[in-house]
Amino acid sequence: MDIAEVKSLYDKYVLSTYSRQEMCIVKGKGSWVEDIAGNKYLDFFPGWAVSGTGHCHPRVVANMKKQLARILHVSNNFYNDVQPLLAKKIVENSFPGKVFFCNSGAEANEAAIKLARRYGNPSRYEIITMEKSFHGRTIATITATGQEKVKTGFHPLPEGFKHVPFNDIGALKAAVTEKTVAVMMEPIQGEGGINVAGMDYMKEVSELCRERKMLFILDEVQTGMGRTGKMFAYQHYDIIPDAMSLAKSLGGGMPIGALVVKEEHAGVLTPGTHASTFGGSPIACAAALGVFEAIEEGKLLENAVRAGGKIRKVLKKMARKYPLIKEVLGIGLMIGVRMDMDDAGPVYEACLRGGLLINCTQKNVLRIMPPVTVKPREIKIAMDILDKAIGSVA
Ligand SMILES: Cc1ncc(COP(=O)(O)O)c(C=O)c1O
Repeated sequence: MDIAEVKSLYDKYVLSTYSRQEMCIVKGKGSWVEDIAGNKYLDFFPGWAVSGTGHCHPRVVANMKKQLARILHVSNNFYNDVQPLLAKKIVENSFPGKVFFCNSGAEANEAAIKLARRYGNPSRYEIITMEKSFHGRTIATITATGQEKVKTGFHPLPEGFKHVPFNDIGALKAAVTEKTVAVMMEPIQGEGGINVAGMDYMKEVSELCRERKMLFILDEVQTGMGRTGKMFAYQHYDIIPDAMSLAKSLGGGMPIGALVVKEEHAGVLTPGTHASTFGGSPIACAAALGVFEAIEEGKLLENAVRAGGKIRKVLKKMARKYPLIKEVLGIGLMIGVRMDMDDAGPVYEACLRGGLLINCTQKNVLRIMPPVTVKPREIKIAMDILDKAIGSVA
């Protein structure tokens, strides 16, 4: 097949809920992907942060191959011998607690919302989330999301959600009522434009939640699994959340989501209160165990810090050359470049033509999130392409 044939099949048979680039990706290895015509691209936004340990990491592939020869799926009415190993690994790398498995970020956040509702039942149900947040595309998670654009056409939405400005503890305190049961937020807003929660702010939110007996829920769907140089972004702060949602790079390319719940709240969701048919399937869990092994064996947290520092340094130098670059944002390999443009789409397009995949969010923030396996040579190539791309629109 060629791109024209692929596209015509999509046009005829696939619901058009996405706007797609005229490009069909057929292969991937590490930081690189190849399209159907054989063109190679450096992927600095791998699968919207799903392939965080690079495309087809050998550890992930090996674990999956081993599991493929055993069994693909086991219903949650039975035990399987992979799911608890992954739960143990997640807990050992975060905080004492227990894990619920599902298949996506939205589903992990749905589980968090249900946890909060059960925790507050019957008198408290309100969840406060942040403006510019993004929590998924189900009805509950678009309601939780602090961006109007995802809600258009889907009203009436469930009640019990309130949004406040991010990094504004006064606004949060003012919004809490006797009905408030939880605060849910991303430690670094991804879709919102790479907005990092302040050190003091995070601590104040945590303290407020403790004082008012509210759950502090962190959405680490995009920030998790080493992206920021720590396994989870909350570890940059002196706090521990009551619950944390994970997905995207947890499975290294396999669909998997998880909600990690602190020990003291582990009894809130009891048998029959929540479920997911595919949740914690041995094949997805085997892949996710491979991601943890890859991070440990490859010392990839250190690489995320080193590579992030290198990219930031180059970007800051680039900012002196191009006044169009207003600000470099983020931590580790979760990087934003705020452009002085109404629409930075042309930069993104020029990068694509040059052979570099990145993303543009909030119209003027370039999102650069290479895999944590990224190599110095790849950074050099990517930054040269970006430099040319910005030069071409400046
Ligand atoms: C912070 C955050 N939460 C939740 C989601 C939703 O994840 P999914 O698309 O897997 O449902 C996303 C997706 O971009 C996200 O960035």
